[in-house]
Amino acid sequence: MQKDDHVRLLLIGDIVGKPGRQLVTRAVSGLRIEESIDLVVANAENAAGGSGLTPAIYHELIAAGVDCITMGDHIYRRREIFPILNGEARIVRPANFPQEAPGRAFTVLGTRGKTKVAVISLLGRVFMAPVDCPFHAVDRVLDALASDVRVILVDFHAEATSDMQLMGRHLDGRVTAVLGTHTHVTTADEQILPGGTAFQCDVGMTGPHESILGRRIDRVLETVRTFRPTHFEVATGEPRIHATLVEADAVTGRATAIRRIVVDAARAAELGERTHPTE
Ligand SMILES: [Fe+2]
Ligand SMILES: [Fe+2]
Repeated sequence: MQKDDHVRLLLIGDIVGKPGRQLVTRAVSGLRIEESIDLVVANAENAAGGSGLTPAIYHELIAAGVDCITMGDHIYRRREIFPILNGEARIVRPANFPQEAPGRAFTVLGTRGKTKVAVISLLGRVFMAPVDCPFHAVDRVLDALASDVRVILVDFHAEATSDMQLMGRHLDGRVTAVLGTHTHVTTADEQILPGGTAFQCDVGMTGPHESILGRRIDRVLETVRTFRPTHFEVATGEPRIHATLVEADAVTGRATAIRRIVVDAARAAELGERTHPTE
């Protein structure tokens, strides 16, 4: 068991392109030590050039200390990720996709303290491409989970805050945390719901914040103003990790604390020094 029978889970918000990846690979090991984190989950749907994930980047993130990867609406943007989605236990697809879709609907991983942690990804339906009902899909996954799996993290990849709140209430008391991704903007509503589920509408983005959701401001603005298509290149300015830390009782799976974490480039360098000293 972990010290004092608590587990600490971190969800890193949508990693966008190289600026996001660089911060994660630099900082995650140090952050794990500093915050006594038992399991790190990262949303990597935008990790490859701003959209999708490649096998090389998957392995890079896992080697850096990420235990599990969730995705989102951009999950199949790079077809070369299919074998990883089908073969690896450290990545999940949205549970409300068809059964035939590449990837697994959930995964169960062990922490070093031997607590089993289930990771589930779901896609929202408001202002997004049509998918199966996430509420029924998550019920099916929870029914399928072994009864000794009490610590459960849900990444709800959705656009609407109302949808997020509904999922939080739907799962309150049944999972450890419902944390949002996809909007790339952190919300200040982190809380523990009455039944003991940690909740936040959106964890935010891990990438360049001098941008429009991670893309170059000038390019997006030009297209929106003139309708002339441009390449929405990944921006570079002000890279930051936005993540949320949840502490939970390892036996009951109930959340006991939730906290937002921001790591800027200077802080990432400090954290990197802890685990990869330059001398
Ligand atoms: Fe995203
Ligand atoms: Fe998304």
